[in-house]
Amino acid sequence: PKFAVFASGSGSNFQAIHDAVEAGHLSGTIALVVTDKPDAFVVERARIAGIETLAIKPSSFSSKEAYEQEILQKLKELEVEWIVLAGYMRLIGHVLLEAYPSRIINIHPSLLPSFPGKDAIGQAMVHGVKLTGVTVHYVDAGMDTGPILAQAAIEVVEGNREKTEERIHAVEHELYTKTLQKLWSR
Ligand code: GRF
Repeated sequence: PKFAVFASGSGSNFQAIHDAVEAGHLSGTIALVVTDKPDAFVVERARIAGIETLAIKPSSFSSKEAYEQEILQKLKELEVEWIVLAGYMRLIGHVLLEAYPSRIINIHPSLLPSFPGKDAIGQAMVHGVKLTGVTVHYVDAGMDTGPILAQAAIEVVEGNREKTEERIHAVEHELYTKTLQKLWSR
């Protein structure tokens, strides 16, 4: 299918997905990258990949609805069928939820429903859990609350956030691609 990737940061998940498409491991086409942070590194990655980017700040719109309408217009123009969130640090509002029912997917760096929201890895470290992980799920109006599609567990490297994070990101990149492939080939 034709899909859009939404990201606000480094875009390593975008990169992994793009690489999987290029390698023929994921059947789909990234039609657009959407970011709310025009100077995020994902914009550079998309440029190098030759993928069109819509970089617009919500603060330049009168409301969340107006911001999402602008995105929706572009998605329609490009006939985008699915939205893949990859480090997009905003809640999806009703405009996009209604336009893409059960067609928006997210990845989150914890075993949901534990540690939703920001800095899930930091939350896991603070709580001293020994196992954390990664969740791929459908997006609904809540914060990291939609139906779960896939999970993988990862051992925390005690006292070492950096190493734990590295492990999590490596698993994310693999799990996201695999899960999307499964979802789209059934
Ligand atoms: C990932 O850990 C993702 O699970 C979370 O935000 C991070 C984005 O990383 N939602 P990147 O921008 O894909 O490198």
